[in-house]
Amino acid sequence: MINIKNLTKKYDDFTAVDDISLTVKKGEIFGLLGPNGAGKTSTINMMIGLFFPTAGEITINGIDVIRQTKKAQTVIGIVADESNLYNEMSGFDNLCFCGALYGMNKKQRELKAKQLLKQFNLHNTGNKPFKAYSKGMKRKLTIAAALIHCPEVLFLDEPTTGIDVESSRQIRELILELKNQGTTIFITTHYIEEVQRLCDRIAFMVNGKIVACGTVLELMNSISYNHSVHLTVDKNPQNFILEFEKRFEGSSAIAKDEKSLVITSKEKIPLLEILNFFQEKEIEVYQARQLHPTLEDVFVKLTAVESAILKKEKEKGDQQ
Ligand SMILES: Nc1ncnc2c1ncn2[C@@H]1O[C@H](COP(=O)(O)OP(=O)(O)OP(=O)(O)O)[C@@H](O)[C@H]1O
Ligand SMILES: [Mg+2]
Repeated sequence: MINIKNLTKKYDDFTAVDDISLTVKKGEIFGLLGPNGAGKTSTINMMIGLFFPTAGEITINGIDVIRQTKKAQTVIGIVADESNLYNEMSGFDNLCFCGALYGMNKKQRELKAKQLLKQFNLHNTGNKPFKAYSKGMKRKLTIAAALIHCPEVLFLDEPTTGIDVESSRQIRELILELKNQGTTIFITTHYIEEVQRLCDRIAFMVNGKIVACGTVLELMNSISYNHSVHLTVDKNPQNFILEFEKRFEGSSAIAKDEKSLVITSKEKIPLLEILNFFQEKEIEVYQARQLHPTLEDVFVKLTAVESAILKKEKEKGDQQ
């Protein structure tokens, strides 16, 4: 549905998007994840025909976005990082106005506006001016406005930044509902959990480059990680760690507190042998829990960007 080839965007000498290529399949939710300044908005703005690329090609459903921008824009919906709706107009009128911009007649646009207000649970506030909406309601109406002409592809730039947990959850549900109705969705975000919950495929973007792309599972498998087991025991681990490491060469053990330790190894951990070791030492093991790497671990490993930086940026966005 979307095809990007060798796309580059330079602002004077600065390369914001650096020779990226990707494809998005029909009906999937694709997430572009990266820290501030990675080049996400520049990428999306080229994809929707707002910015002219320095080099490269973009097609959406076979339409060349650079040469046939107007035609491409009839099949896409755009939710920008800042709302483009009118403060003084009501929610309903804003939707109808957007419908008119797409050439829908009065009857068509009023019908669709009503249907969207209902779908987005905004039908009780449809007559309020946009400025009287809460942040979460504003974001929902902005998404509704992007859907007025029933686009096949929806682009969302940071749809949940700056809104509360409950509104973010509602927006994620709406996005999933749209996917179930067959809409292809391209979303940018800072938020690792969001891509993990929502997206069929993900690209990690840093300094204008895509450093990894795939499903969560593919990304997980793309890095080699250590096997880890967390054990809860009845004696202080410090007393037997040295002996343990001697017995299980290649494994390392770190005491987490007086009653628990984490064992890490490049090889699969022989849990049964380890339990036997503890039994010999008359140490009771209450719990053994395997620790799995998270998408966050993969992101940090592949991008060298600490996830704490992403989180901080996201919080900053939430406060704005
Ligand atoms: N119009 C512009 N002129 C010059 N530089 C720009 C312009 N727009 C963006 N940039 C620069 O390009 C880089 C990428 O910016 P972009 O907005 O695409 O990043 P982003 O990933 O969307 O970041 P954020 O998470 O903050 O939204 C940044 O260094 C930014 O300063
Ligand atoms: Mg941005």
